[in-house]
Amino acid sequence: MLPSVLPTESDHIPVLADEVIATLAPRPGETVVDCTFGAGGHSSLLAGRLQGEGKLIAIDRDPSVAPFFERFRRTTAVKARLLHGEFSTVLEQLAGNGVRADVILLDLGVSSMQLDRPERGFSYAVDAPLDMRMDPSSDYSARELVNEADERELSDIFKRYGEERYARQIARAIARRRGKEPFERTGDLVETIKAAIPAPARFGEGHPAKRVFQALRIEVNDELGSVERALPAAFEMLRPGGRLAVIAFHSLEDRIVKRFLRAREQGCTCPPDFPICVCGSEATMRATPRRAIRPSGAEVARNPRAQSARLRVGTKVG
Ligand SMILES: C[S@@+](CC[C@H](N)C(=O)[O-])C[C@H]1O[C@@H](n2cnc3c(N)ncnc32)[C@H](O)[C@@H]1O
Repeated sequence: MLPSVLPTESDHIPVLADEVIATLAPRPGETVVDCTFGAGGHSSLLAGRLQGEGKLIAIDRDPSVAPFFERFRRTTAVKARLLHGEFSTVLEQLAGNGVRADVILLDLGVSSMQLDRPERGFSYAVDAPLDMRMDPSSDYSARELVNEADERELSDIFKRYGEERYARQIARAIARRRGKEPFERTGDLVETIKAAIPAPARFGEGHPAKRVFQALRIEVNDELGSVERALPAAFEMLRPGGRLAVIAFHSLEDRIVKRFLRAREQGCTCPPDFPICVCGSEATMRATPRRAIRPSGAEVARNPRAQSARLRVGTKVG
């Protein structure tokens, strides 16, 4: 049997593809950094606009994207390389080494391939080992988190990253169950979550384990911390006139991006009651456009996973 890592028809469908191309508008000769290569859908579109002149640097913390990158490299005319690692670390290293970019894209979260591969443990819909690491070589998985974090910490994670109403009850049920036997599989966790929430809530909005799984995934992969660290590094790498785009899938991530762009757009850091500016700081980015771009109804109908996507783009002032 062929390994499931080979590119298949279930490849990730790039989200907000037309909008990404229109706002980032790569030009021949430019350098593009795709921080979340995945199946290379956005990379292929961005590289196409370079018309054979320019460079594409792909980053992903999941080594299983390698066959997708090989496929991309065979079909692209631009110089391309893949860097394996967490994007904030890689961007900091690139910026520190003086590498400069004209276009940087972050399409956050997990890919369809990660979600659809049961053995990765991201899905509440199939029973699999409790894992959820985007980088399988990292030493902290959902198994450690669920079995070792204290009850209070778990409850906070479910509340903060999953907006789970029954966070306390679920954390208590987890602590009770793992006292007898540690959690090894997603199925056991789903059963514990279902049993911990009131019966009517089990049939409410979406799958009862959806919010807890999202929260665990965010914590295991330090998803918010990565974005916080990546944005200043991406800014440093951008040449004047360079464009940075971020696609976020939940409000916590989108808020980080929005605040980052606002702060750089504002420039002046004087208290609002100062009659004149004394700090002399000027705007270093412009949000282009001002508001987040959302997918069209037609896109959501084609690809329901696009539903919660928000695209924000900033241009470095120069
Ligand atoms: C939503 S998918 C990107 C799909 C891609 N744009 C495409 O068109 O195929 C996100 C990808 O980014 C990777 N990723 C997420 N967070 C990361 C991080 N902090 N550092 C590096 N890679 C990350 C995931 O492993 C996954 O492959």
